[in-house]
Amino acid sequence: MARTEFLVTGAGGQLGRALLAACAARGRSALGVGQATMPLHDRAAIRAVLERERPAVVLHGGAMTNVDGCETDPLAAYRVNGLGTAWVAEAAAAVGASLVYVSTDFVFDGTASTPYPIDHAPKPLSVYGASKRLGEEAVLGHGRADFHVVRTSWVFGPGGKNFPRAILDRARSGQPLKVVTDQIGRPTYTVDLAEALLDLCGAKPAGGVWHAANTGHCSWHGFAQAVLAAAGLGAIEIGTQTGAELKRPAARPAWSVLDSSRLDTALRRPLPHYTDAIRRWLAADQAATPAGGNKTY
Ligand SMILES: NC(=O)c1ccc[n+]([C@@H]2O[C@H](COP(=O)([O-])OP(=O)(O)OC[C@H]3O[C@@H](n4cnc5c(N)ncnc54)[C@H](OP(=O)(O)O)[C@@H]3O)[C@@H](O)[C@H]2O)c1
Repeated sequence: MARTEFLVTGAGGQLGRALLAACAARGRSALGVGQATMPLHDRAAIRAVLERERPAVVLHGGAMTNVDGCETDPLAAYRVNGLGTAWVAEAAAAVGASLVYVSTDFVFDGTASTPYPIDHAPKPLSVYGASKRLGEEAVLGHGRADFHVVRTSWVFGPGGKNFPRAILDRARSGQPLKVVTDQIGRPTYTVDLAEALLDLCGAKPAGGVWHAANTGHCSWHGFAQAVLAAAGLGAIEIGTQTGAELKRPAARPAWSVLDSSRLDTALRRPLPHYTDAIRRWLAADQAATPAGGNKTY
């Protein structure tokens, strides 16, 4: 039987679904695993899956991504995002698979005012950010030329629960909108990120840290405005609020704009602008939303 090329963790998540679709579109063999098939807190289960499948590449996007949930259940966050990633890295090294670990802009504290270069010192503000940083260290600690940490930000994909979906749902149901103005980042479309990750694997550059995000940056408020404009709802007013006013358990960086120049150079192209990505997301999300769900007729 042919060897599985790509093992995709977090397969049922936003990025995992896009990765599996991108592999299928390129005719590349891929196996997706989730909590039921490869629980990230279970070292033996991870080792068993990798020994059985012996993939060429592990695309590791599986994570506890609920930022406030991580703050209230730090043990689970460190287990899944930190230790779980260590087990994935250990097992990938043992079977000679290369590894792409998807990490986050939340490893930074947000006090910068220019885009974060890949070598900027991490200083997470939250358990989520610290647990993902622990995962980064576990991957980089192997010192392997075929292990990569790819930080991304503000991820949205078709058919999932995410920020643009929530904004559209509220706008279409006539609920008032109030969105944060004092956190700035780079929205990232899963479809574009998945293509970039597969291209990175194909380019086989030296390992290390990468930043991957759609071009352009905005506040959450600006992101919401761009979503409504793309949906023809630009006339709807969006109120403003500060991050502090939301009183959420976990702190978020005020500035988490990633400098993606290393990736742009390696791929010889930047990712598309986020406003272009929103337009494509809108079409794909409408197609992915089941009838009787959020679709409007
Ligand atoms: N979302 C963002 O804005 C954002 C920003 C920066 C970086 N990232 C990073 O990008 C990656 C992908 O994010 P996403 O938005 O696609 O995440 P997502 O939609 O929340 O999906 C996460 C996936 O991880 C899996 N998972 C969670 N706990 C697990 C466990 N204990 N064992 C095995 N699998 C587990 C889930 O599997 P099941 O489906 O089986 O439950 C889920 O499919 C993550 O590593 C995240 O840290 C995300």
